[in-house]
Amino acid sequence: MVAFPNSGWRKPAIRILDRPSIFLAGAVSALLLLWASFFFFSPSSKPTLCNCHHQPPPAVDLRSDPPISTFYDDPSFGYTLNKPIKNWDQKRKTWLQLHPTFKPGSPDRVFIVTGSRSTPCKSPTGDHYLLRFYRNKVDYCRTHGYDIFYNNVLLDPTMPSCWAKIPAVRAAMVAHPEAEWIWWLDEDAVFTDMEFKIPFHRYNDKNFIVHGWPKEVYVKKSWLGLNAGSFLIRNCQWSLDFLDTWADMSPGSVNFNKWESVLMNEFRHENDDQTALAYLLRKEHQQWGRKKMLIETGYYLEGYWVLIVDTLKNITERYLEVETSAGMLRRRHAEKVSERYGLLREPSLKDAGNEFGSWRRPFVTHFAGCQPCNGKHNPVFSGKRCREAMDVALNFADNQVLRNYGFVHRNLSDSSVVKPLPFDYPA
Ligand SMILES: *[C@@H]1O[C@H](CO)[C@@H](O)[C@H](O)[C@H]1NC(C)=O
Ligand SMILES: *[C@@H]1O[C@H](CO)[C@@H](O)[C@H](O)[C@H]1NC(C)=O
Repeated sequence: MVAFPNSGWRKPAIRILDRPSIFLAGAVSALLLLWASFFFFSPSSKPTLCNCHHQPPPAVDLRSDPPISTFYDDPSFGYTLNKPIKNWDQKRKTWLQLHPTFKPGSPDRVFIVTGSRSTPCKSPTGDHYLLRFYRNKVDYCRTHGYDIFYNNVLLDPTMPSCWAKIPAVRAAMVAHPEAEWIWWLDEDAVFTDMEFKIPFHRYNDKNFIVHGWPKEVYVKKSWLGLNAGSFLIRNCQWSLDFLDTWADMSPGSVNFNKWESVLMNEFRHENDDQTALAYLLRKEHQQWGRKKMLIETGYYLEGYWVLIVDTLKNITERYLEVETSAGMLRRRHAEKVSERYGLLREPSLKDAGNEFGSWRRPFVTHFAGCQPCNGKHNPVFSGKRCREAMDVALNFADNQVLRNYGFVHRNLSDSSVVKPLPFDYPA
């Protein structure tokens, strides 16, 4: 079987003896498994060797890459935006066929991409906060089994600052054909609900999701009607074409000046990645007709920290009230099975509402305007206020994680001090 019809750059077939260690490892782990099952099943319980109807999906095979050429072997294929890709949907599908262990779970497999600049932060506390922001993302990924890539190099020098996400997302799509969704998150976005999961079933016919207020974008033509710091993009040909269109508006493009005047005219704001995105959303809404893009209003795919941080203390109290009356929710458990308890909590949140004014934990809190790395925060608030708010949000999130390790920050403003969590707290 040749998955990619050009034999000129076929991978050499691998002879079995070239990889003895893998086969040896396979044999050893099979023996271990056999030994383990005897150990567990004897002598008190009978071994039930095949309970085939209830088998979990097989783990993904990280060691199999059949010696059959794919798009990766095509010398004209590239990771950069100047190498257009055609037939990506078919190429991804073929790759999945060649790597069948990645198929289960592939319809909504998520790959998170985030990143920051390559040089040290100018603000003395900048690198500290970037580390905590990243740790927070890793915590979320560990809880839900997502992969994450932290990029800290400019992949395309003509696309600096906020534009840098476009080439990073493009490269991630190509590097991860097993992922259905790429989720871009700015460095200064914090998961403040570790349990919430993206409702992907609502996006079956959508390819691009961003948080905002549709009326602001579509009617009032406001570039602040959305925020480009957190978006979901499906790993498909539509999205590659969309990224090309978006990149065509960036500083490196020959069309930059043209777009600059179009955007100034339409949105009364300079051409940056977010104004450009607002324009494309509006255009798609009016003209493309296929409505593949969605402005999410149902939950904080990202939410502005100024509206959120002061509510976190009360939200903590409401959740404690719920846990006081529901033993299963405060029960201790292994971190790996946290999703189970997130599902259990849902019924008690049905009156909590969502977004502004809600007492549900906000999903993602975005420190837009704080610029924790370079310290050049928006002058409408002080650097101190930003840092205090970041501490509160990070500790609020940390409490959801630390709980599984038996500890808690009693004071959300104090990042250094934790207390052991008593058994059955808050009974
Ligand atoms: C928190 O709850 C208290 C008591 O119900 C209320 O007075 C206060 O306004 C709430 N704070 C916020 C920021 O919602
Ligand atoms: C919480 O911690 C902050 C920072 O250490 C401190 O200033 C504040 O007094 C503490 N609050 C309480 C109620 O202990």
